[in-house]
Amino acid sequence: MSSVNVITIDGPSGVGKGTAGGIIARKLKYNYLDSGALYRLLALAARRHKVSLTNESALVALAGHFDIAFKKNDRGNIQTFLEGEDVSRAMRSETVAEFASQLAIYSSVRNSLLDRQRLFAVAPGLIADGRDMGTVVFPDAQLKFFLMASLDARIARRHKQLIERGENVSLRAVQVQLEERDRRDKSRLISPLMPAEDAVEIDTSGMTANEVVNTLLEIVSIKGLFAGAS
Ligand code: DC
Repeated sequence: MSSVNVITIDGPSGVGKGTAGGIIARKLKYNYLDSGALYRLLALAARRHKVSLTNESALVALAGHFDIAFKKNDRGNIQTFLEGEDVSRAMRSETVAEFASQLAIYSSVRNSLLDRQRLFAVAPGLIADGRDMGTVVFPDAQLKFFLMASLDARIARRHKQLIERGENVSLRAVQVQLEERDRRDKSRLISPLMPAEDAVEIDTSGMTANEVVNTLLEIVSIKGLFAGAS
């Protein structure tokens, strides 16, 4: 298990964990793992190679060798590549999220992504964002957050994100997709979405992105675990 500082941020879609995780990682100069990206990339690779999302053994084989890369661009944003192609935008659609959630129910698929995720835990430290970061992937993390928010707040945030990315989608469609994904992510038998026993739970419903960041950083600082936190 990792010997560097790890902070996990788990929760469903639309609670602000991705935005907060990225900003906090930059502030602390930590590495950042967006574990959802791995599931999304595997879903994209499966579609590309005509692997069915229900073909567990073929998905595991694909996860064992699919060619992915994360690179920081000049503006400090992370660009994501699948087989050399920049898929940063393509991977963010609700359709890809839905596919990712479907293949994420298989224990062997999840296990085949474990090592890749743990490789991110290198000095000076890691912010890991996902569904099972605190429960399964980094159970010994020094600090664990579980973010939640009302369904209405999550729908509104997710809708805004998708519209800003140019996806023409209605509030109602976002609601249906979120509820379906929640149901699947919470009810799967392996690594379901749930807070770790030792997670700090925070309701972000009424908070801006800045408020979420400041609340988490305050707790990081109170815990006194991380040099550079302010
Ligand atoms: O965080 P996200 O919306 O990018 O994740 C997309 C899907 O990937 C999510 O609905 C379920 C799956 N996922 C998972 O099972 N475990 C994780 N740690 C992260 C994502």
